[in-house]
Amino acid sequence: MSALQKLTGSASTVAVVCNQWGDTGKGKFVDVLAEWADVIARGTGGANAGHTIHVGDKKHVFHLLPSGILYDHEGKWNIVGGGTALDPRVVIEELAILESEKISYKNLLIAQNAKLVLPQHIVLDRVRESAAKKGFDSPEHPAAAVRIGTTGRGIGPVYADYYARLGLCTNDLLNIEIFKKKLERNLREKLLVLRQYDPAVIKEVMHHPHLQNGRFWNEQNIFDVEAILETYKEYGKRLGDMIADTEEFMHKARAQGRKILLEGAQGNLLSVDIGTYPYVTSSDCSMRGLVQGVGLRERDVDLCLGIVRGFYMTRVGEGPFPTELGGTKSAEWCGKGEVTKVVESKEFPEASVNDKDPFLQGVGMRKAGNEYGATTGRPRRTGWLDIPLLRYSMEHSGPEAIFTKLDVLDECEEIKICTKYDYQGPEYRWGKTLFHPGMTLDKAVPDPELLGHCVPIYESFPGWKESISGIREYKAMPAKLKTLVSFVEKAAGLRVRALSVGPDREQTIVRE
Ligand code: GDP
Ligand code: IMO
Ligand code: MG
Repeated sequence: MSALQKLTGSASTVAVVCNQWGDTGKGKFVDVLAEWADVIARGTGGANAGHTIHVGDKKHVFHLLPSGILYDHEGKWNIVGGGTALDPRVVIEELAILESEKISYKNLLIAQNAKLVLPQHIVLDRVRESAAKKGFDSPEHPAAAVRIGTTGRGIGPVYADYYARLGLCTNDLLNIEIFKKKLERNLREKLLVLRQYDPAVIKEVMHHPHLQNGRFWNEQNIFDVEAILETYKEYGKRLGDMIADTEEFMHKARAQGRKILLEGAQGNLLSVDIGTYPYVTSSDCSMRGLVQGVGLRERDVDLCLGIVRGFYMTRVGEGPFPTELGGTKSAEWCGKGEVTKVVESKEFPEASVNDKDPFLQGVGMRKAGNEYGATTGRPRRTGWLDIPLLRYSMEHSGPEAIFTKLDVLDECEEIKICTKYDYQGPEYRWGKTLFHPGMTLDKAVPDPELLGHCVPIYESFPGWKESISGIREYKAMPAKLKTLVSFVEKAAGLRVRALSVGPDREQTIVRE
């Protein structure tokens, strides 16, 4: 039996989601499992996602296209589902890259009901973040926005428009007169909001490369409606043939017994419904949202694989992170906006995973794991694996897990795992539970008011101190690593079905 058959068993629909704050290697595993699948579908998020695939020397990064696209030439279907926030500019850019690399995409379908990202969404996203950065009490602050540290891809405003019944969808690209009417109605409302913000910031944002360096800018009306219309008309022509009723496609595929692979974006803890709200993205990127976003039912999923990084985790943007190495110093450093991989390597050339200083150890972990955003290049905040959060997350994705990035800690002398929290905040009611200082928590509560005051209690383990990136069988893994795997399995109640020891397709171990 092949390794992938072993992993998927009798399942005909498999979902890959993330049990943390994203960037755990969903792209890698969707690419690995695409060999098994007939249909690969994205259902949530948009160009905020960055999914990286390594095949030999070649690296591919996808933001909106499903990570199964490298199997298009084998006749496999790739679907961008209706739950996604679709920016046509990004899709077209990704298609151009595929063309330049001679990778086919003839079986790519885009849902006719995907939520259409328009220039006003990107502007609003960025202008709100900029205002929030100045601080809530600043006289220039016009609204009670919370600083999230978004990716600036217009994600929040596009989903907000959808729920406010003001949104446009990809199908509108096919009917340009209706597109125009809906665009004008939407812009009228956006102008009312945007006029409250700093005009200088709006102007600057309107000249951002993602807004085609000012192509949509109009001095009086902020937006040049004709320019938007012209551009989206072109987008419609370019993508029109790919736009289809993908829900119907998925229902048929399921009924015909095709093997379906669902690709999660972001992670459970970033879900608008179950994440650390408001420090989340604006779609439900858990398994539930993913299934809904492709038009299937939750009970259609036969196997949900929840990814966990092997013994550490990361977070990009704002929000509580109890096990963060270096605490607020790390959060501030990573949130500055100008820190890149190059800056950091120059500033802290010696930082390593064994640094005694927790902040520097966090930098060392970031360098070892190359934890810099695939979408924005921002440094990802780093910290130890948090079992209370994992226990919470698994309630939404189940016990079947994949451990990734295990090789990152090869050099680590001591590995710490957070098993519990000591709550040190003020008295706080969460439903019927009254939290009080000194309380011990086994499972996290996603409310930042609580999570922000949880102090991790760690168990310590010796590192395996050898290179594992060439290992392909679980039994050949170092004993110390296996002890850690068993510990987490027991502590969190999960089963590790596969492990990843490097970014390449081949660096994958399916458990016996
Ligand atoms: P995604 O958003 O969940 O798809 O993850 P990203 O692609 O944003 O980030 C994961 C990063 O880790 C990518 O650069 C991958 O190439 C890389 N990666 C995936 N698995 C492994 C692994 O086992 N070891 C190492 N060192 N890198 C990995
Ligand atoms: P993948 O699929 C990590 C984070 C942002 C920010 C918050 C809201 O690659 O794992 P948004 O632009 O969505 O409104 O930003 O969510 N975020 C991600 N973090 N990986 C992602 O995707 C993310 N997509 C959004 O950093 O904190
Ligand atoms: Mg990513």
